[in-house]
Amino acid sequence: MATLYEQLAEALALRIHEGSLQPGERLPSVRQTCGQAQVSASTVFQAYDLLESRGLIEARPRSGFFVRKQPRKAAPPALALPARADSTEVAISELVFEVLHSTRDRDVVPLGSAFPSPDLFPLDRLARDGARAMRRLAPQALTSELASGNARLREALRARCVRQGMQVGSDDPIITNGAMEALNLSLQAVTQPGDVVALEAPTFYAALQALERLHLKAVEIPTHPQWGVEPDGLAEVIQRHRVAACWLMPQFQNPLGALMPHARKQAVMHTLTQAGIPVVEDDVYGELHHGSTRPLPLKAFDREGLVLYCSSFSKCLAPGYRVGWAMAGRFSHQVHKLKMMSSLATSVPSQLAIAEYLEEGGYDRHLRQLRHALADSLALLREQVLRHFPKGTRVSRPDGGYFLWVHMPDQVDTLVLHRQALAQGISIAPGVLFSADQRFRSAMRLNGGHPSDARLTQAVRWLGAQAQMQMQTGAA
Ligand SMILES: Cc1ncc(COP(=O)(O)O)c(C=O)c1O
Repeated sequence: MATLYEQLAEALALRIHEGSLQPGERLPSVRQTCGQAQVSASTVFQAYDLLESRGLIEARPRSGFFVRKQPRKAAPPALALPARADSTEVAISELVFEVLHSTRDRDVVPLGSAFPSPDLFPLDRLARDGARAMRRLAPQALTSELASGNARLREALRARCVRQGMQVGSDDPIITNGAMEALNLSLQAVTQPGDVVALEAPTFYAALQALERLHLKAVEIPTHPQWGVEPDGLAEVIQRHRVAACWLMPQFQNPLGALMPHARKQAVMHTLTQAGIPVVEDDVYGELHHGSTRPLPLKAFDREGLVLYCSSFSKCLAPGYRVGWAMAGRFSHQVHKLKMMSSLATSVPSQLAIAEYLEEGGYDRHLRQLRHALADSLALLREQVLRHFPKGTRVSRPDGGYFLWVHMPDQVDTLVLHRQALAQGISIAPGVLFSADQRFRSAMRLNGGHPSDARLTQAVRWLGAQAQMQMQTGAA
């Protein structure tokens, strides 16, 4: 027996197929549908979510839902990932340090790295733009724009964020030392030690480290590997725990690569707004979509200033420059104060180089090239993994970013594999890094952001063979 929302979705799908709802036509508003079908708003959101995930409709910010002009192909089936029901203290840092330390060696095959190939970035042009901007800099500007950041850079970012559907406040954005500082300050602004924070499962290890540093507890939200946070799962978590804040990566989640459909974002924002729970949104991969349009961030669906949006140039333009930003909504003032109390300001030369680069033009062209390169290298890596890894291995199929989440049969222990691989000059990011209780032992994250070469191909083949051997010998 289909659930209410599935029945509603089917009824609407039928109208689309029969043509009584035409391509490009607006669907009835959520409120109208609630009235007509005698169902709750969350049922309507779920039905629209389902239709969006099937590629039949699309959400447009502040306009509603529309029948897609050309239906998009539905996504492949899920990798099953159960979430833990209770909240956990976090103590992950030592393990993360041990593993990450090994991935920084330049001679190691960087499958465990979090960065794409440095050759994909316009580093020469950034250096020239930076030098020119610094020569023109009035000396007093070195100290007059502390805390919030360089005015030119902030203006350029404001314009981009408005184009991406976000509401931008007069104090936005605050320039930070990479996204990491934006995220840490944002989390600190909305929590007290001992609070519970809800996160995706699996999640980025630095999110867990941020919780550990601030003495916060983690609770997992059921997360679909392709579509991200489950709205019903989130509602349940909020019912069971006193959640002080969420930390979410709705665009190309690290490590899953999941992208939340717009209807799902709307449903999540609806639930969080009703509960008055702030959400730290990590969007460092949003620009790296492989399709033609940039997905709207969660913040584009936020009417109450509850989203503290964080991003940076580290993954798409200038790794190592450490320039990120926070658009903290109603918490801007707290984040601003915390920025002043922690690092005071962000390096002026780095900010200026990027401001000059953005003003001179070419960023969007660079992004198009980067997206193509990453989509190609990721697809190639996926193909190689499917060819060389043991039977029963499941591999994510992200629509953006450059990570693959590889789930192998239970007998494989990727922490063991990580240590064996390092001895061969190969790094991986073992699954234990991605949850507070070090689950996901048979999974790992692989970086597909480096052009394929003989060494990389060889490394994938070696990893596959080694995993197979673990399965046969029970080495795990
Ligand atoms: C999901 C996610 N958020 C944040 C960061 C950190 O970004 P930044 O280098 O700008 O501090 C990373 C880097 O790996 C990341 O993967």
